[in-house]
Amino acid sequence: VRIGLLCGSFGSESSNLAALNVAAAYAATNGLQPVMIDGLVNLPAFIVDELGTAPASVRHFRDALVNVDALIIAVPEYAAGMAGSTKNALDWLVGEATLYRKPIAVISAGTTGGERAIEQLTFTLSWAGAWVFSTLGIESPRTKMTNGSFADEPTIQTIEHLVDRLVSAASGDEAFRHSMLKEVVEPFGIDVARFGNLTG
Ligand SMILES: Cc1cc2nc3c(=O)[nH]c(=O)nc-3n(C[C@H](O)[C@H](O)[C@H](O)COP(=O)(O)O)c2cc1C
Repeated sequence: VRIGLLCGSFGSESSNLAALNVAAAYAATNGLQPVMIDGLVNLPAFIVDELGTAPASVRHFRDALVNVDALIIAVPEYAAGMAGSTKNALDWLVGEATLYRKPIAVISAGTTGGERAIEQLTFTLSWAGAWVFSTLGIESPRTKMTNGSFADEPTIQTIEHLVDRLVSAASGDEAFRHSMLKEVVEPFGIDVARFGNLTG
């Protein structure tokens, strides 16, 4: 099982990247294949006329997402919303089935715990037909880090739990998926029925 890891921060000591590193290490020790998805930083501003003839950077980004079985996306909250470069990247996927029925876990590490970033990501990803099975906000991440890595055991465990939840939902039967998805999306007012059947 290939687990893609996508980071929406390009900071040199990114706490979102540190969270993904915890997830990647845990995934690897549990027989999964972590795949870091880069290239987001190189995407140009979205231009609707270029949707069908997207530049190579966009095509590579889409292909990288298509090639993973599940995805963990960690994005900071900037100015009360998801980081703009992440939204721009997701705009490039409009009209493509790239994220359709993709099992996804969302993380936002940042001062407040990224509640608004998580909400926006859940809406945008759900709109694309992705299955957001798990979310995690990490508040004041720098207080939980040492030398650029998470050192706080409870935080590490919540990230590991997020990976477990994503993998069990992705590999679970339809009824289990339904209950996991419902638990995440319905608090945001998203009707789980909009996803149709959750098989395959
Ligand atoms: C321009 C800017 C705007 C920010 N806005 C918010 C915000 O609205 N809410 C919040 O919780 N944190 C906000 N932060 C703090 C970031 O979430 C925090 O720096 C986070 O650690 C960045 O992610 P990173 O560590 O992965 O680089 C902001 C930071 C910057 C630089």
